[in-house]
Amino acid sequence: MEKSHFQGKTALITGSGRGIGREIALHFAGLGANVVVNYFRNRKPAEETAQEAEKKGVRAEIIKANVGDMQDLSRLVAETDRVFEGLDFLISNAGSGYNRPVLEQRPKGWDWTMDINARAYLFLAQKCVPLMEKKGGGRIVAISSPGSFRVLPEYAVVGASKAAIEAITRYLAVEFAPLNIIANAVSPGVVATEALQHFNTMQDEDLLEDIAAETPAGRIVTPQDVAGIVAFLCSPQAEMIRGQTIIADGGFTLPARGLGPSG
Ligand SMILES: NC(=O)c1ccc[n+]([C@@H]2O[C@H](COP(=O)([O-])OP(=O)(O)OC[C@H]3O[C@@H](n4cnc5c(N)ncnc54)[C@H](OP(=O)(O)O)[C@@H]3O)[C@@H](O)[C@H]2O)c1
Repeated sequence: MEKSHFQGKTALITGSGRGIGREIALHFAGLGANVVVNYFRNRKPAEETAQEAEKKGVRAEIIKANVGDMQDLSRLVAETDRVFEGLDFLISNAGSGYNRPVLEQRPKGWDWTMDINARAYLFLAQKCVPLMEKKGGGRIVAISSPGSFRVLPEYAVVGASKAAIEAITRYLAVEFAPLNIIANAVSPGVVATEALQHFNTMQDEDLLEDIAAETPAGRIVTPQDVAGIVAFLCSPQAEMIRGQTIIADGGFTLPARGLGPSG
């Protein structure tokens, strides 16, 4: 990856204290970009991520904000602008969800999930436009999930929010193109982060090994895999990729299962 494209620029990564977001923040810092480390509930990991980023010689600003709250969202953007005077890369990574079977879903869980995953993405992108215009354009990447098109256990509402993310990405790609702002999404397969604790079905210790064995690539996806693809989508080489959701699952969702002799 050409570091010159990232050096001295600014990346805002939502939910970047922990998990995949942390790795994206550190990857961008490694490429020379200043980073906004956003967190909601867990300050300590955000401080650790910011310290790690600064060791790479960039500036890291920690901003607490619940992306599901519109006032917090506005403050996150205003604070980013105050500190860095514009924005080059917006990575909408923060995710949450009310994981239940459809029969146990409640409107409150729907609103919570949609507000944090989908509404936050659209309005964050909208609010970041003036910051990106200051830089002559920018890149937006959202983190989706294969639950947008495959049926995962207890994932109906999160899956719907991820489908919304992918639809929003296509609209941003078209409507923001005249502003030299490019939008895409990355859809990773299973990544071993704390997010898996929210899945009752993912508590079997052997499950990750089973998923790795069923993945054509022979292993599960890492946060580093995701960070590298996000950075690629922000690079000049990816300029002609617009409004796409790049599935990065090592091929896990490709095989039609249940057709072979072994079931
Ligand atoms: N792990 C997977 O297998 C997988 C697969 C496909 C897609 N994804 C997607 O990848 C993204 C990151 O997932 P992950 O696995 O890294 O999850 P994670 O380890 O559970 O981390 C979630 C992150 O989102 C932040 N967050 C949650 N709610 C927030 C809110 N309202 N406002 C601001 N930040 C908030 C958390 O911050 P605090 O700790 O401060 O609350 C944390 O940094 C999500 O969009 C997820 O859907 C994950």
